[in-house]
Amino acid sequence: MNSPYPSPVIGHRGACADAPENTLASLRAAARAGAQMVEVDVKLTAEGRPVLFHDDLLDRTSDGEGPVAETLLDELGALDAGSWFGPDFVGEAIPTLEEALETLIDNDLTVNLEIKPCPGREEETARAALAVAQPQWPSDRPAPLISSFSRACLSVARDQAPEWPRAMICDSLPEDWREVAAILRLTAIHLADSAASPASVAEVTKAGLAVAVYTVNDPQRATFLWAAGVAAVFSDRPAVILGAVQ
Ligand code: G3P
Ligand code: MG
Repeated sequence: MNSPYPSPVIGHRGACADAPENTLASLRAAARAGAQMVEVDVKLTAEGRPVLFHDDLLDRTSDGEGPVAETLLDELGALDAGSWFGPDFVGEAIPTLEEALETLIDNDLTVNLEIKPCPGREEETARAALAVAQPQWPSDRPAPLISSFSRACLSVARDQAPEWPRAMICDSLPEDWREVAAILRLTAIHLADSAASPASVAEVTKAGLAVAVYTVNDPQRATFLWAAGVAAVFSDRPAVILGAVQ
């Protein structure tokens, strides 16, 4: 199996301990930290444009309020997604997926697009994200890894971008993970740290899938997980975890 990870460390939401999550500043911070790959969360505006954002609501990580799914792109574009994090990031915007991909390409980063639909928008979110990413991503670069908690999103990805690798994200391994992996033709499982044990990692890797674990900010824990067969860890502090790579 070709690994979908160019490095054992993936910047989480960019490098979200160093800059506000899912912003262009966070992507650049991950590149400066030495990350080769970053994970970002993709969801839709009211009119169906894909943007980088994690929560269903604007409140935690911007000066807006209310559901992202009820906010138009023009309104989102006027929000400040940096001040909440610190004074160095005043005016940092919520990026469109197009803008984020451009920054990733300019910074020579590979990407894991987590499709993060608001409830009820699963298929629409996957379709819209891929419709933007497929024509924009250069064919001579490693393909984006598409991941989601949502099986409906992964099913759309399998049909719309069959050649791009897919990973299912799990808080814990579901009983039917083998059947789902076969149906969705998964390359990997992204497992919460709380569910990552040498036994669970061995079970998945023996079936021919890679395991990546989120979110790991302790270098000793990362070293333990790599020794257990984990291919990569998502970290808010990629520079710190890269320091533990042998
Ligand atoms: O993709 C791994 C991880 O980001 C999944 O959880 O909530 O941080 O998006 P969350
Ligand atoms: Mg995520």
